[in-house]
Amino acid sequence: MELVAEGWKDYALIDSGNGLRLERVGPVVISRQSGQAYWEPALSESEWKTRLTASHWRHDQGPGKWTEQQSTPKVWNLQFKKMQLTMKLRPFGHIGIFAEQQTQWGWIADHIRTWPGERVLNLFGYTGASSLAAAGAGAKVTHVDAVRASVGWARANAEQSGLGDSPIRWIVEDAVRYVERELKRGSEYEGLILDPPTFGRGPRGRVWKIEKDLVPFIQKCLQLLSSNGRFVLLTAHTPGVTAAVLRNMLFPLLEERGGKLTSGDMVQQAEQSPMLLPAGVYCRWSAFA
Ligand SMILES: C[S@@+](CC[C@H](N)C(=O)[O-])C[C@H]1O[C@@H](n2cnc3c(N)ncnc32)[C@H](O)[C@@H]1O
Repeated sequence: MELVAEGWKDYALIDSGNGLRLERVGPVVISRQSGQAYWEPALSESEWKTRLTASHWRHDQGPGKWTEQQSTPKVWNLQFKKMQLTMKLRPFGHIGIFAEQQTQWGWIADHIRTWPGERVLNLFGYTGASSLAAAGAGAKVTHVDAVRASVGWARANAEQSGLGDSPIRWIVEDAVRYVERELKRGSEYEGLILDPPTFGRGPRGRVWKIEKDLVPFIQKCLQLLSSNGRFVLLTAHTPGVTAAVLRNMLFPLLEERGGKLTSGDMVQQAEQSPMLLPAGVYCRWSAFA
């Protein structure tokens, strides 16, 4: 099943094409590369240019460069329901949010609201939107990311979203090591959120490569799911890692529990174009068929 993210008041994909995407992020309009946008944009080049505040371009494997077409705030806020998320122009074209995950936040919250106090582990949590969705619905959340600055950013997002006193544990750690330690401690969770990158590095230099690490990692993670496990959400943004690949990883580990496994593309609907922009794949399991 394809999940279509349509944007909201503060965020929209405006248009895409010619290998680029044009997005409105609060008061700022940015363009970034988007390898799969092979088609022609709906808006003209001059319509893109007049709207643009800042654009990111990456020639090679490096972090790329932001260019400001108009004066751009250093830091600004984006609202999604009760979440207040700080945005910044960061290397690699990152801004502090993966907006396609919008379609997952409500699903996560729906799996918690009826059972507040559910324990949720969010691995590769970045600036925390999924952790905030879970905590806002009443979960006890463990948020793990290898980058200290991202965990600090997530924590600040929680505070300004009114979740500063919520039971969220903020962990700066390599996700693989953290899961191994949690297994040794006998920890358990009712919800798992996993959004592994293609390539990453733990704080002590351990290298993460999705093609080598994902299968054993998922197997270990699933051992942390309690007998009352309610949900597992696995997303990926790596060429070759399709929805079927994710499904085939999760299916044998969850089959015995029953419930419902769904998978598919995540896409973004543009405001000004009929094109659906590919934005990764997901596989999610719900204990409730
Ligand atoms: C695709 S982003 C996650 C986006 C996030 N799920 C969201 O929706 O906002 C990947 C994150 O994984 C983190 N990361 C990379 N390697 C890691 C590792 N070995 N252990 C823990 N986190 C890692 C990065 O710092 C980055 O924040």
